[in-house]
Formats: sequence, structure tokens, C-alpha cells
Amino acid sequence: MLSKIKILIIGGNGFLGQGILKVITNEKYEVSILDPYLDHKKLKKYKIKHLFNCSTLNDKDINSALNIEEWDYIVHLAAFGGNGNGLLKAANENFNKAVNINVTGFANLLDKLKNKKAKIIWSSSTVVFGEEKSYKNKTVKEHSILKPLTNYGLTKLMAEKVANYYIKNYKMNITGIRLPIIIGPGLNYRGVAAGISEMALATKTKSKCIIEIPPSSLDIIYIKDAANLFIKMINSKTKLKNIYNCASIRTTAIKLADSFNKISKKKNIKINNIGMGATYPIMDYNMLKKDINFSIKYTINKLIKDWLIEI
Ligand SMILES: NC(=O)c1ccc[n+]([C@@H]2O[C@H](COP(=O)([O-])OP(=O)(O)OC[C@H]3O[C@@H](n4cnc5c(N)ncnc54)[C@H](O)[C@@H]3O)[C@@H](O)[C@H]2O)c1
Repeated sequence: MLSKIKILIIGGNGFLGQGILKVITNEKYEVSILDPYLDHKKLKKYKIKHLFNCSTLNDKDINSALNIEEWDYIVHLAAFGGNGNGLLKAANENFNKAVNINVTGFANLLDKLKNKKAKIIWSSSTVVFGEEKSYKNKTVKEHSILKPLTNYGLTKLMAEKVANYYIKNYKMNITGIRLPIIIGPGLNYRGVAAGISEMALATKTKSKCIIEIPPSSLDIIYIKDAANLFIKMINSKTKLKNIYNCASIRTTAIKLADSFNKISKKKNIKINNIGMGATYPIMDYNMLKKDINFSIKYTINKLIKDWLIEI
């Protein structure tokens, strides 16, 4: 019998971490979670080998978690979430803490993995790029210039530099994925994606709602596609590169509301456009497609139907 792939998900109690837990099959993987906030009630339904209630900033705890097994993969998803207003707002409200968790904690982890075999996959974000209009053709490749507009984007850029340092100097196997906005069931913090969660809930409960949201374009991916992407990366036979742009669907809140309303055959969701959000460039994801054959399975209609079943 083949031995199971041992995976440690750092920040695994969060939205994406739980999304990955849902799609992981236990016959092939042995999963453990490290997170300073563990929702035991939610995690109870998954088969998890070790639950480490600790932070990447705690040397003693992190060392013992890293030494308890010979990890095949470490998936690093930890990020500063502040008061639950979304990762972007959290980094604006407390930049120091965001740097601590998104950058220092990540560097601390990589430093402790220097002499280990584990491969590391971690979550960067579209927010490392600047406004769409500042790029030729409005699209970006992996090597396009990074010019973050926010504190959160800056922490992700710093984390990419940290990863490159360890790859170059210690020949470590580290791969980052620049994710767009992840939407779907299981999100429990506020922010742009939460407005879309409200649309799903209103459709499900057949109630009316007005979503206040900027008119700007949104680049999204459904949680199940995002989770499957991590599984595909783990199973890749190709040697993964340092960083990948991720596939996404370009839409707007108004288009999403229309799609929800069409599916429910009602006009329950109304959009009140407020403020101006940033429009990020579309990420060219050909490299990801070529290396792991990844493409989005959940179109807007398909994801809405799936979401309504899930909640
Ligand atoms: N959700 C999105 O739309 C999106 C988009 C792009 C990138 N990302 C990135 O994906 C990752 C996961 O995002 P998410 O939406 O699941 O966020 P989340 O806030 O739901 O999850 C982050 C998890 O990290 C944990 N954490 C915080 N500090 C920690 C520490 N010091 N040590 C270990 N764990 C710690 C939190 O408790 C939380 O469970 C993040 O790195 C985020 O920046 C998310």
C-alpha cells in the first residue's frame, strides 16, 4: 500500500483551509492543521491527524509541530484577519500585525524548514499588482512588475521576496499562488466576498437584500476550484515554479446579482454601488495551465447552483 501524503495546513482553520479539508480524500492524504484559532466544532467532521493550537510566531510550538512528522507538504495559508473585516482592511487597521503574521511568521516557518524535505505551497494574492490601467494590455504575467496599492498587497509582496530568498539561498522547494477573490460557502469575515455571500443567502432564503459594493470589476474563483488547485499542485509531477498567477472569472457585483436573480427567477437582490474599488489587471495563468493543467470548473451559473445546495 502506498504511504499517505502527509500535509500540514498552516492557517487551516480559515476559509480556504476548510475548503481544502472538504475536498481532500482521506485514503490518499493525512492532514494536520496548525492555527492559533481552532474551531473544534467545525473541524470535528474531518479526519485530522494533529491539531496544533499555535502560531507561526511561536518558535517553541512551531518547532515541535514541524518535528512531529516528516511532512511531505506544508500549505501555508496564515494571514492576519484583524476584527473580521477582511484581510485587506485588517492590514490597513494594523499594519504591524499584518507584517508580523503575513511576513515574519512565514519567514520564521521557512527558516525552520531549511534543512527539511517538505515542499511548501503558499497563498499570495492578485493584490501584489497595481491598478489594471498601469499595465500594458491590462494583463499581467508572473514576472510583471509588482506595485501593490495596499498594506495587504505590500505584505504579500514582502512574503514573495522572503520565499525567493529561501529558494535561492537554500534551494528550498517553495511555490506561491497568486489567488483572486475567493467566494463560496464557509466565508466568515466581511469584505467584498461577503457581499457576494449575502447574495447567496438572500437567494436561498428567498429574501430581499440591497448590497452596498463598489462598481469595479471583480476577479473571482469559487472555493471548490481554489481548493482543487492546491490538491493539483500537491499531486503535480512537474517541478513547480516559485510563483504562479491563478485563473479567475472577471465579473462585477451587478452581473453576479443578475445571475443570482435569474436562477431564483426573482429580483430579490439589488446593488447599491458605493465608493470606488481598485480594478486589478487580469492575471495570465498560462504557466499554471501548462504545468498542472489547471482551469476553472465552476462558471458563475455552476457555482451559484452548487453554493445554493451547500448552504
Ligand atoms: N480569501 C480570499 O479571497 C483570498 C484571496 C487571495 C489570497 N488569499 C490568501 O489565502 C490565505 C487564506 O485566506 P482565507 O480567506 O482562508 O483567510 P482566513 O482569515 O479565513 O484564514 C487565515 C487563517 O490563518 C490563521 N492565522 C492567523 N495568524 C496565524 C498565525 N500566526 N499562525 C498560524 N495561523 C494563523 C487564522 O486563524 C485563520 O484561520 C491567506 O494567506 C490569504 O491572504 C485569500
